[in-house]
Amino acid sequence: MFRIPRLLKTCARMGGAIRSSGLLGTEPAPLQTPHLSGHWRQLASQDTVKFTFEFRDGARHEVAVKEGESLLDVVLDHDVDIDGFGACEGTLACSTCHLILPPEIYQTMSMEISDEEMDMLDLAFGLEDTSRLGCQCMVNKDYEGVVIKVPAGVNDQR
Ligand code: FES
Repeated sequence: MFRIPRLLKTCARMGGAIRSSGLLGTEPAPLQTPHLSGHWRQLASQDTVKFTFEFRDGARHEVAVKEGESLLDVVLDHDVDIDGFGACEGTLACSTCHLILPPEIYQTMSMEISDEEMDMLDLAFGLEDTSRLGCQCMVNKDYEGVVIKVPAGVNDQR
């Protein structure tokens, strides 16, 4: 799971809110970015990948993200408006993060599907041949320019 970047973003946002609220009285020292180990530093330095979410009504939402982010984090961090998305926060308990990948992306990732994801996908609304759970899919450079389809509805299995 690549949850650390999201946690760091949240901490940075909270630090800014606390500083601007004046609760601390005096101006604290600037937030220090934690030292990133080699893997995270490599991810942070990579170029962005642009791709698009497409809704059933044809509306689109383009995003530009770093490689290594999960589609769950992408949807939440970029305010992609999918009702009820990610209800279990990536714990493979809900299937609300169901997305339909383009075949060329699905085929490159098909070996990564766990039994737990397959079980949860079986319960997803509007299942298609290239369906995946967004919390289990990590963005890589192959996502550049692709269109990911948003199902017509969600099915929360919790
Ligand atoms: S967020 Fe619940 S299964 Fe993916």
